[in-house]
Amino acid sequence: MAGLSVNIDHVATLRETRKISYPDPVAAAVLAELAGANGIVVHLREDRRHIQDRDVRILRQIVQTKLILEMASNHEMVGIALDIQPDLVTLVPEKREELTTEGGLDLITQNNAIAETVDTLQNSGIPVCIFIDPNLDQIKLAHKINATMVEIHTGTFCEAKTLKKRNQAFSNIVDTVKFAHKLKIGVNAGHGLCYNTITAFKGLHEIEEFSIGHSIVSRAVLVGMERAVKEMITLIKEL
Ligand code: PXP
Repeated sequence: MAGLSVNIDHVATLRETRKISYPDPVAAAVLAELAGANGIVVHLREDRRHIQDRDVRILRQIVQTKLILEMASNHEMVGIALDIQPDLVTLVPEKREELTTEGGLDLITQNNAIAETVDTLQNSGIPVCIFIDPNLDQIKLAHKINATMVEIHTGTFCEAKTLKKRNQAFSNIVDTVKFAHKLKIGVNAGHGLCYNTITAFKGLHEIEEFSIGHSIVSRAVLVGMERAVKEMITLIKEL
């Protein structure tokens, strides 16, 4: 059975809209682990729009499963990763103007820089996963630079507007996952997965772990709403 790593960035997004101390992604990490998550994922962005350095440092101390740090391949982030020593680093592309990560890293154009980051981190004992689009050439290059894992970008599949595009996107995912497995690179998958799209992955046992954030945090807001309102009503009644 594949594992689930829960991305808690959007708990921090909610906190940062008010720049106050709650909801704390650290508390969300504890609850996600108690519910059975196999790992906690945070993306420390250059612009610190959601996860803050303080979150990553506290999470490093309290996460009981594994802490996965998503980050851009740059000098600042490599320094932070070497200091924090997450259990896995997932390298992602990052653009300031994007709402969320928009696609995988392109190892064809950025091979040397990424290879250097992979070496630096892996030589210090941190396994590295590279987030790539479902494409066989990208897998070949990830294998060539010795990355421990790849995470296959599932966003194109999840966002496909027609059945034809959806089927094509899924077929690309299947081919890429099987090829990575054949090359003995570990395979994770993620981005945009929700309670509907996850069901398509039945039988694709080569995937070790799914990395899911937005849909889980969104559902948590709704399934927790009834209790949150009742608790406030109880307090008001007691006034
Ligand atoms: N995997 C990667 C590499 C990501 O960048 C993200 C988003 O931060 C996710 C998975 C999770 O995506 P979502 O929040 O859409 O589930």
